[in-house]
Amino acid sequence: MAAVFPKGFFWGGATAANQLEGAWDADGRGPSVDDHFTGGSYERPREITLEIDPDKLYPNHDGIDFYHRYEEDIALFAEMGCNMLRMSISWSRIFPNGDDAEPNEAGLAFYDRVFDCCHAHGIEPLVTMSHYEMPYHLVEKYDGWASRELIGLFERYAKTILDRYHGKVTYWLTFNEINCGTMDMGNLFETSMIQGYEGPASGVHTTFQDRYQALHHQFVASGRAIRYAHESYPTLRMGNMDCFILSYAATCDPADILLNQQQMRQMNWYCSDVQVRGYYPSYARRFWRDHGIELDIGPGDLDDLEEGTIDFYAFSYYMSNVVGTHGVEQSAGNMTFGGKNPYLQSTDWGWQIDPDGLRFSLNEIWDRYQIPVMVVENGMGARDEVAEDGSVHDPYRIAYLRSHVKAMGEAVDDGVDLVAYTWWGPIDLVSAGTGEMRKRYGFVYVDKHDDGTGTLERRRKDSFFAYQRIIRSNGTEGLE
Ligand code: BG6
Repeated sequence: MAAVFPKGFFWGGATAANQLEGAWDADGRGPSVDDHFTGGSYERPREITLEIDPDKLYPNHDGIDFYHRYEEDIALFAEMGCNMLRMSISWSRIFPNGDDAEPNEAGLAFYDRVFDCCHAHGIEPLVTMSHYEMPYHLVEKYDGWASRELIGLFERYAKTILDRYHGKVTYWLTFNEINCGTMDMGNLFETSMIQGYEGPASGVHTTFQDRYQALHHQFVASGRAIRYAHESYPTLRMGNMDCFILSYAATCDPADILLNQQQMRQMNWYCSDVQVRGYYPSYARRFWRDHGIELDIGPGDLDDLEEGTIDFYAFSYYMSNVVGTHGVEQSAGNMTFGGKNPYLQSTDWGWQIDPDGLRFSLNEIWDRYQIPVMVVENGMGARDEVAEDGSVHDPYRIAYLRSHVKAMGEAVDDGVDLVAYTWWGPIDLVSAGTGEMRKRYGFVYVDKHDDGTGTLERRRKDSFFAYQRIIRSNGTEGLE
């Protein structure tokens, strides 16, 4: 029998401003870090250019033009049955340079319109304050999150949007995939993408010291935003957002088990332990010592962590990987590489598909924290073909969706307090990792291509109707 999702469960989709809005320089918006990323592909990493080069293509500049088409898109999400839309606010739409004296009213007004439109369709917005972007000026002038100054600048931005939208937005996330800041991804594009702190203006910060110091600044900034929200608007619910990459020990060799424990702590638990509990976990001390990290902790920082804890735990889940001490074949994945698992299939981009891993992760998270949990990204990037009659048949995406919804149902049955599921990219949008359009996640197809051409017309894929059926039955039908 299919598991029963709780009444009032949120079903929806998840997006990020820089990957779909476009209109990068409209109505007073300033350039953000992502506007300096060129297009790329699986084989060819995106470049970052310090100046905008007219001979190169920057796919985030136009996105899928949600800025002008949000009404049509939100109506499509509503037609699918979504009652939640995860979206982010573009920081540089509100503060074009990040350190401006006054916010940009036109930018604020845009999100008023979007939130109003959501509510008109019975859709609850779930808003990320910073989804892999910041005003580019903050990277040039302050070196992004390497600087303590960013804490105050983010705090002002957060207060501005909380004051403006607290009546329209109840659910908030501070930083997207904050834990990706722990990783040394070793190339300019990816490290630069992480919240913008690895600024192109200053070179790449690949040392543990730099990464963990930048993360500390983000923890404090997040804590201050949450503290302010709780004090000023007690009905708001504030969450983190972690990129949960489950890893398995490759063998039962105790050395592999220990290695995996360390991997899980560094990748998956370090940030949320701070954000849920309000203090650094005890294993952090040894980790810092072993990696030569000496955190500069300012007066009041630890109070901000303690008083800025989250109300719910939110995470992205796409895949799992394997770690071991005996040599493990490598596989690609979300923001990272990891070991290949012989029991799993992979997407065309090498991400290992593991619905049971989602059930396992949900149980681990719930057992550890005992606060409501949201899956705020999950999905599958794939190449889609438009048939002659205009339809898009995507059985692979439907299979991925069903298997992960089933896994969530099992987790609910296991006792996990799961309250929301927002599929990544309910509509095709620009890939964060590769800048491609052909790596499609959507239930809605967008006629836009890697070379920037396309009519931008939207069309419903088969998966649109599959998700609709799941939502209509609150997860009890459409899983076969
Ligand atoms: C998540 C990010 O890690 O993965 C999204 O939060 C991103 O921004 C998603 O788009 C999928 O990754 P990609 O590289 O396939 O777009």
